[in-house]
Formats: sequence, C-alpha cells, structure tokens
Amino acid sequence: MIKAPEHISALRPYIPGKPIEELERELGIKNSIKLASNENPMGPSPAAVRAIAAGLKKTLNRYPDGNGYYLKNALAEKLSIKPEEIILGNGSNELLDIAARTFLAPGDEAVMAHPSFVVYSMAVQAAGGKAVQVPLRDYRHDLDAMLNAVTPKTKMLFIANPNNPTGTMNTKEEFDRLMRKIRNGILVVVDEAYYEYVTNTEYADSFKHFRTGRDVLILRTFSKIYGLAGLRIGYGIAHQEIIAEINKVRAPFNTNSVAQKAAIEALKDKGHIKKSKEINNRGKIYLYKELSSLGIRHVPTETNFIYMPVADSMNIYEKLLHSGVIVRPMWPDAIRVTIGLPEENRKFTNALRKAYS
Ligand SMILES: Cc1ncc(COP(=O)(O)O)c(C=O)c1O
Repeated sequence: MIKAPEHISALRPYIPGKPIEELERELGIKNSIKLASNENPMGPSPAAVRAIAAGLKKTLNRYPDGNGYYLKNALAEKLSIKPEEIILGNGSNELLDIAARTFLAPGDEAVMAHPSFVVYSMAVQAAGGKAVQVPLRDYRHDLDAMLNAVTPKTKMLFIANPNNPTGTMNTKEEFDRLMRKIRNGILVVVDEAYYEYVTNTEYADSFKHFRTGRDVLILRTFSKIYGLAGLRIGYGIAHQEIIAEINKVRAPFNTNSVAQKAAIEALKDKGHIKKSKEINNRGKIYLYKELSSLGIRHVPTETNFIYMPVADSMNIYEKLLHSGVIVRPMWPDAIRVTIGLPEENRKFTNALRKAYS
C-alpha cells in the first residue's frame, strides 16, 4: 500500500477532549459535564446565534466570501488596523498549519515550548520542518532559553501567551527583550487564543511589535471567550506582506459564511464578553479556594482553565469520568480543568473530593 513520507507517518494524531455522548454511552451514565476543551460554558452571544439562524436560511447554496470582507473590516475597525493586515482561518488551528506551510522549507527549524499547544509541533512536522522544544520554566515559557535554541536554520518561533496547558503568561518585559534580541527573518507566532481572559496588567504587548513592522504573527480566535468553537473561525494579524504570503497557501473558501456572520455579531456584543469574563473570574476564585482546601496544587491561571500538577493523573481522570466529569489528563502528571458555570465547578470539586477519598 502507498506509504506517506517519514515526516508524516511519524506524526501522532491530535487527541481531543472526550465527547460527553461517548462517555455516557460507555459508562451508561447521564448528566455528565465536559470541562476538557476550554470552551465558554455560557455559549455564544445571543446576537451571534440569531445571525447563525438567519445565515442558515439565506445563503447556504452560495460559496462564502473567501476574503471575508465584512468580518475583516469589522476586525480592522475594532483593532485600528488595515483589513490587509488580517487573515481569517478555519479556527486559529488552521492558521498555525498554513503559516508553517508558508514559511518552512524541509529541514527548517521552529522553536516552541514544552508542554504547550501540541498543534505547533504537528504543524511544523507536517510541513517538513523540525520542531525544537524548550522546556517551560516554573510552568511558563522561558523566552531566554527559547532564544538560545535559535540556530541559523530557525525560521519560526511559537509562543502561546497565555500558554495551554499551564494557563501562564509572559510579561511585556520578557517579550520585549525577546524581540530586541531575535534576528529579523524569524517569524514570531504569538498565539493569543485566551488573551481576552487575561487580568494581569504586565501581559506582553505583541501588538506593539506588529505595529513597528517586526516579523510577528498574532493569532486569535472566536472559539474561546466568544463561544463559537463549533463554527471554526479565528484570525491572524501581521504585516500585510506576511499576510499576503500566507494567503497564497490558504484554501479559497476556508471560512464559512455562517461563521463569518456570527463572528461579526459576536464582536459587537461587549456585554457578553464582559459577563463571560466575570463568570470565569468568579469560577477561578471558587476553584482556587476548593483546590487549596483539598490540598491540591494548582498553577495560577490567566485563562479559562486551571493546570493541576497531580501524581497519578490518569487514575484521577478515570475516577472523575465515573462521576460524570470530563477533564483533560496531561500525561504523566497533571490534569487540566476548564472553568465552568458555578454548578459545573461544584460538580467537579465534589467529584474530585470523592476521587481523593
Ligand atoms: C493555545 C491554543 N491555540 C489555538 C487553539 C485552537 O483554537 P481554534 O479553535 O481557534 O482552532 C487552542 C484550542 O484549544 C489553544 O488552546
């Protein structure tokens, strides 16, 4: 049978969070909750849902606007940038993939942290590049060490800020230092999937470097605080020459018409974002308190999920499943839980208490 090239057959497929239906089917249980994929438990803005319903009625027989004119304009206005400095993606995931395919030639290196979002290494390997992984330090990206990992072959550097799975962030000072030292000609991809959740005022300002014309690609998404993970829509921001190159690799109709319309409405609904952030902050405080009272170590988060370094994580994960709670096991020694609605957080902490009893 036909064989894929070595750099493809060596890839390991992405393992998503377990779906609720699958768990309930397997264990014959009901009323389970999923706190495994960092989705917004409030769902999307009602205005976005209305736009989805209207979009379904009208234009499904037509191809979408592949250029996403209206959504790009809405984003450009909100961010005070030019539409030409924006690229839309089928989730930011797709943009990671096409950015790697745009800028990496076989054998080129890309530096990233470990553990961080697994798609970085997958995208790099699939493009024939080499993923160079630099361990986190105190659960945070060690930007100095990542800079030291740069070689003449390095073409890209991936930074998740905040990081998934640890929820930690890098500061302005750290990021500015990296940008001062890194040579031009290396694309710094700053994945800001969770940036709307950040509360720390020292959070790195990637935009500043994009504005001064540096080789920076900022990625954001409608999958997290905007609650539209199921529609698959995200965007990238970079100098227009960088965007023009990535656009050559993008599939013609990569984002669908319904997602584009929903995203425009979601952007406008500032109240929904504010409320989502407030619920998340309250959930965070509740979970910190409960975890501390259970004596379970956790890493302070700037996102909508919490990383808990626990021994025996697979066993705890299995026990939580039997209580109808799906979290994300991080092999070998951590669990990541998405902050949910108050009743979901209570169900999780009750299940955790039972798992440890
Ligand atoms: C750090 C990070 N980047 C990107 C993504 C992908 O998001 P999207 O749904 O926009 O593809 C995720 C999703 O979990 C993530 O955690």
